Amino acid sequence: MSCFASADESAHYGFSVCMLLEQYRSQLRWEEEGVVELGTGDATAIGDVVAALPGLRVRGFDISAPSVEAARANIAWRGIADRYTVELGDFFDRADSAAGPRVSTVISNPPYIPAPDRDILMPELWGGVDGNDLVLQLLKAGYDNLITAVASYSDPEATVRTAEDLGYRVANFLAMGLDFGPYSTEPKVRRRIRRLCAEGRGWAGEDSYMVAVALFTRNTDVPGDRADQLLRALQLSV
Ligand SMILES: C[S@@+](CC[C@H](N)C(=O)[O-])C[C@H]1O[C@@H](n2cnc3c(N)ncnc32)[C@H](O)[C@@H]1O
Repeated sequence: MSCFASADESAHYGFSVCMLLEQYRSQLRWEEEGVVELGTGDATAIGDVVAALPGLRVRGFDISAPSVEAARANIAWRGIADRYTVELGDFFDRADSAAGPRVSTVISNPPYIPAPDRDILMPELWGGVDGNDLVLQLLKAGYDNLITAVASYSDPEATVRTAEDLGYRVANFLAMGLDFGPYSTEPKVRRRIRRLCAEGRGWAGEDSYMVAVALFTRNTDVPGDRADQLLRALQLSV
């Protein structure tokens, strides 16, 4: 087992989380509540954000033991262990189990690799058959605000429409083109991506796709809905 490694993707995730937290600072109330994170990886992405935003506290979870070990070392080295903690375990089992009030904001670059089964290069990155299982689970977990990565090839339209059915709007997002990395080029994954795209449930170019980091919110203090813009941006991968 190893840690997730994709420098461009992690940097985009961290930068986007930082921008969205800054843009909606007063409405999301993260300085008072802190935020929780599904999937810290080695903590580089959000370690940068915690260092940049002195009022931010993050409680992270990861199911990968090597990732948690690397994350804790990274956090200690950066001197931010008082504001960024990482626990080993499934976010959905653990995030609500500790004493104290529930926070209203969750952040994540969740697993989104679509494949017929979990037997892939890094099984912890399996997002279910369509790739969007984890983001759908996060939407159904009842947080008011979810800042999450959405990949163009993992049935994003179903994700956005489910979010709407659950009362979420897309407040804003940052989109970036990414080349297929080792996780997307594994033959069974690539075949599944092609299939999703052929069925009109995803978009990808020959060797590239788009990822957007979006703020889904049910907070009435946050204006607007850019759901359709988000879906159009993800189609730019074709
Ligand atoms: C795409 S990686 C993102 C890592 C890091 N946030 C980054 O962007 O560099 C997704 C991470 O989620 C973790 N993960 C998968 N399912 C999880 C779950 N149910 N609870 C907590 N972590 C999970 C994986 O082990 C992996 O480290």
